[in-house]
Amino acid sequence: MMEKADICELSFREVLTKYQKSSTNVKPSDVAKDVLGVLKASGMEVRIYDNNQNLLGFAENGIIVYNGTPKIFKGNISNALKGNYSYTVTNKSLIYFAIPIQNNFYENAYVFEIVENISYFYDIMDKIRYILIIGAGGFIILITLSSLFIAHKTTKPIKYLLGATKKFSKQQFEQVSLKRKDELGMLADGLNQMGIKLNNYIQYQKQFVSNVSHELKTPLAAIRGFSQYLYDGEDNDTELKKIYYHLLNESDRLTMLINELLILSKLDKATPELNIKQEDLSELTNRVIQDMKPKAEKRDISMESHLNNGVLANVNEILILHAISNILENAIKYSNPGGHIIIETSKTNNSAVIKISDQGIGIHKNDLSLVQERFYRASNSGATKGSGLGLSLCREIVEKLNGQLIIESEIGVGTKVSIQLPLA
Ligand SMILES: Nc1ncnc2c1ncn2[C@@H]1O[C@H](COP(=O)(O)OP(=O)(O)O)[C@@H](O)[C@H]1O
Ligand SMILES: [Mg+2]
Repeated sequence: MMEKADICELSFREVLTKYQKSSTNVKPSDVAKDVLGVLKASGMEVRIYDNNQNLLGFAENGIIVYNGTPKIFKGNISNALKGNYSYTVTNKSLIYFAIPIQNNFYENAYVFEIVENISYFYDIMDKIRYILIIGAGGFIILITLSSLFIAHKTTKPIKYLLGATKKFSKQQFEQVSLKRKDELGMLADGLNQMGIKLNNYIQYQKQFVSNVSHELKTPLAAIRGFSQYLYDGEDNDTELKKIYYHLLNESDRLTMLINELLILSKLDKATPELNIKQEDLSELTNRVIQDMKPKAEKRDISMESHLNNGVLANVNEILILHAISNILENAIKYSNPGGHIIIETSKTNNSAVIKISDQGIGIHKNDLSLVQERFYRASNSGATKGSGLGLSLCREIVEKLNGQLIIESEIGVGTKVSIQLPLA
């Protein structure tokens, strides 16, 4: 538009120069007529005004129009008369571009106005806007998809590795592999190596405990037998009798420990060899109570039982008897003389429950989870004999049978231990 304005201005001034040369009295309407003759086709419409904003003449589509009163944007013209290019755009996409024309006294004597339809310009702008919106939308979608893809590509293997470490902590070892050569792949390989070594070590340790326990079982039985024999046969020397008693006691303790270790190694091996049958837990519990009676009486502890009918569960008889014995034995061991123990069996929802409550010394809350670990004995155990294996064995037995062991306790008040098994 500016280029066109420059050309038109030049042509207009050429006509003006001709007039100024030929005569002294210049008639603006003649100038306008001549200029229109030259520039009539330089726009969709062209108009010429004098310095009083009067329309001197105009042409439409290259044809000079002699009579007509087109719409004039006065502001546009007065602006141009100040010596500036001026334009107005109507809402019909028409641009009125006004060019000031100076005479040889450098006065703004005329205004040449070009009217053009610039709807094509708006069409192009619309197209550009449309392309930009589509482009931006596409870009956002692309960025979102690629971030999701990257996040998925990195979080998935991390989740996988996290799952593997969780399984490792439960001693479930399996091959870890990510089939990629970056740092995550290397981490997976490292984890895999660690799993293999840890598994080998644990298996070796279990095998060692199992072998040693088996090896010790027979000589220990002989030692216990001979100690009993010596103790029973010694009637004269009280000192010697004391020593034999001590021997007998210690070999009893060792026998218990070996038995527990053997059960432990049996539990560590695969489950299928466990002989599981439906059993009446009340009947089994009663058997344990009868077995333990002498021990309780010896410590002046009374036992009260509430054994219900139909408390059935699928269990291995030897293992569950061992677990109940352990809990009842603990209740007796850690009760004060004259104490009272309540033994109950019941059915709740889908569980068969054995609950043994004592009014003994209790377990500190910090020790509650630790007493279920192998070989852990809390400070309250003091001089009482034990290996610290009992409760850990109970927990492992109960969990192998898909149940759970629950221990509640308060120092000085007592302890409640429950075995919950799925009801058969
Ligand atoms: N009924 C109980 N009352 C108080 N403390 C208990 C009771 N049962 C277990 N404990 C505590 O838990 C520890 C672990 O028990 P357990 O594994 O059976 O080992 P042990 O009886 O051989 O010491 C015991 O040493 C004792 O400190
Ligand atoms: Mg015990």
